[in-house]
Amino acid sequence: MNQDFFEFVSIQLTKGNKMALYVQLYDALRELILNGKLSYGYLLPPVRKFATFLGVNPGTVVSAYKLLEQNGYIFSRSGSGSYVAEITESLEEEAAPLPEAEMPPLYEKPSADCIDFATVMPPPDLLPIDDFKHILIEVLDRDQGNAFTYQDSQGFYPLRQAISQYLKQHGIKAQAENVQIISGAQQGIDIVAKALLNFGDYVFTENPTYPGAIAAFRSRGAKIVDIDMECDGLDIADLENKIRSFRPKLIYVMANLQNPTGYSYSVAKRNRLLGLARRYGALVLEDDYISELDFSATALAPLKALDREQRVIYLKSFSKIFMPGLRLAFLLMPPHLVARTLAVKHNSDISTSGLTQRAFDLYLRKGIWQNHIAALRRIYLERYQTTLATLEQFMPVEVVINRPLGGMTCWLELPDGISGRKIAAKALQQGVLITPGDAFFPRHAPDRFLRLSFAVVCAEQIIQGVQKVAGIIQEAMRIR
Ligand SMILES: Cc1ncc(COP(=O)(O)O)c(C=O)c1O
Repeated sequence: MNQDFFEFVSIQLTKGNKMALYVQLYDALRELILNGKLSYGYLLPPVRKFATFLGVNPGTVVSAYKLLEQNGYIFSRSGSGSYVAEITESLEEEAAPLPEAEMPPLYEKPSADCIDFATVMPPPDLLPIDDFKHILIEVLDRDQGNAFTYQDSQGFYPLRQAISQYLKQHGIKAQAENVQIISGAQQGIDIVAKALLNFGDYVFTENPTYPGAIAAFRSRGAKIVDIDMECDGLDIADLENKIRSFRPKLIYVMANLQNPTGYSYSVAKRNRLLGLARRYGALVLEDDYISELDFSATALAPLKALDREQRVIYLKSFSKIFMPGLRLAFLLMPPHLVARTLAVKHNSDISTSGLTQRAFDLYLRKGIWQNHIAALRRIYLERYQTTLATLEQFMPVEVVINRPLGGMTCWLELPDGISGRKIAAKALQQGVLITPGDAFFPRHAPDRFLRLSFAVVCAEQIIQGVQKVAGIIQEAMRIR
């Protein structure tokens, strides 16, 4: 160990703090490593000596070292001690805001005839334009100039009422007073982040997850801790272990048809998640972006339906199942957080467009919404079945096809040594656009996944495109 450690390092641990002592020590050492004060190869003090110096139990130092090692900040050599590892990238939760330029790139469609497996929204020809045109005319005749005045920042009250009715049909008890209308789910995530998070707060996300959420949390300086996804929801052992250590303020999840994996949580995992959130005082942000397209016979209601304690903030977007350009979504807030989110919404954009809200209200009330969803389900069920059947038929058996219960995407795990980025680049040269999976991981992005969207492709394109991608993977396997 370098002799001067105890002279130049000042570490203050506070007993009785909500954060466990070993997490405080972990944070302090991590900071010293990241800012270069403890550089690669530095030998950390022996456990007992360090514990005596800090006036804590040796177990505290052992646990902090263990966590640092798990997250790649240090490594140990048996018999010789713990050393600072080589840090080549940000290893774990980010406390610094990310510049906008680091947002994941948007994949542009190179030509009109390319097969687009990247876009995740209904194509223009599936949008109910005629119905909506008539609704707009009715609203304008009815409300005249009122449709264009400033609106209530919480949202047009009749729409909030219509939404609470809609939620009841989905097993969620809601009152219009707790509904906050927002301009898209992305704004919802941002508003929740602004309302709840302070710099340095911990947020848990699924791993992988929706990159727009990572960006919003990071822009608040939150530290992101990722929890691995399994095919029936979060890895609960990992969650239990980390929630005890980090005490996150927020856990961001997609319980139904998770983006990007398509996985849905089992009932048992829904209950375990809520139980752990309750025990450790965390709020859960449930992003329900597509549950209407669950095609299974046993489709589950959103997680919010199980929430007896107002621990879940429910976020619902209409972008994927209606019109993304309408920029319409809502939050169902626990009552004690309504005023705080309302203030943030007001400070962000005063209110969501009144014309849009009034039109959508009428659309819901007239029941046209149900017809639209039924039509969308018919179309997407067919695309979903074609995609899965085609993948099974053409993909090499070494490719793991995760079969979602519905939605618009399918998550593929490539065989060892095959790069998702390279396959996507080759596919693009052959006129197929597909999303490499690494963009969905908050850190340590493994380059062995692809997300295939069937949102804007017809059956013929699905068959052609899957054959091309399968051929590229086969060729890559042959020469690897
Ligand atoms: C999981 C998830 N949440 C939120 C959003 C943002 O949706 P919106 O268009 O409502 O802002 C997206 C968009 O892709 C998404 O995939």
